[in-house]
Amino acid sequence: MKTVWLHTIDSTNSEALRRLPELPSGTVLAAYDQTAGRGQRGNSWFTEPGRNLTFSIVLKNLPLSALEAIRLNYLASVAVASFLDGKGVKAHVKWPNDIYVSGKKISGMLIENTLAPDGRLAAAVIGIGLNINQREFPQLANATSLACCTGREYPLEDSLEEFLALFEDLLPGLSSEELRDSYSARLFRRGVSARYHDLLTDEEFEGIIEGVEADGRLRIRDLRGTARLYRFKEVSYLL
Ligand code: BTN
Repeated sequence: MKTVWLHTIDSTNSEALRRLPELPSGTVLAAYDQTAGRGQRGNSWFTEPGRNLTFSIVLKNLPLSALEAIRLNYLASVAVASFLDGKGVKAHVKWPNDIYVSGKKISGMLIENTLAPDGRLAAAVIGIGLNINQREFPQLANATSLACCTGREYPLEDSLEEFLALFEDLLPGLSSEELRDSYSARLFRRGVSARYHDLLTDEEFEGIIEGVEADGRLRIRDLRGTARLYRFKEVSYLL
């Protein structure tokens, strides 16, 4: 992988998408300051300049169909969780791809794909925001960082290279059962009875998250013993 550090950019994902034709697979665009970071569901991603990791990994010619693209979430989520493990911090994945430590969000991802005419993924831009050294989150009650968890500070460049080494190690197993199992094992609230909102039927229910199916759907077993399967935006967590 080849990392290019940018001083200031609107969004590393937007920049990677603009420059996609010219960027070789394995290019990583990282920014010290992102002025218009983009998050899930059209939200913004704000971080203090120079304190956190905000970067996008460009991958091309992946052996994935559009339906299999969810595996990139598994890969990126497991890589972030392993990186945090290495720092002594236990992280969980709030399905599909928010990374939480002790109930607070430390990392989020925005994965944007382009499709080839045959339905395969032509390119993926895997955008990751990982809070490293920021200590205060005035507008975000539910956010945290590695420094908040450990009381230490970390050089951003070395941290990114460490993360990328883990990511690269996992890449050959992109379609493996093992990766899906590692992802399932990290799911927030896995094996614990909790309440959910089925957004398809507008019904609240109690159940236990068991893992993800091969097609990426989340499997929650309700109290009647029925396995309920959900795609993104079909279920939400209740407190
Ligand atoms: C979310 O949890 O809402 C996803 C946040 C994704 C943020 C990262 S930061 C690097 C990349 N560039 C962006 O504009 N967004 C992603």
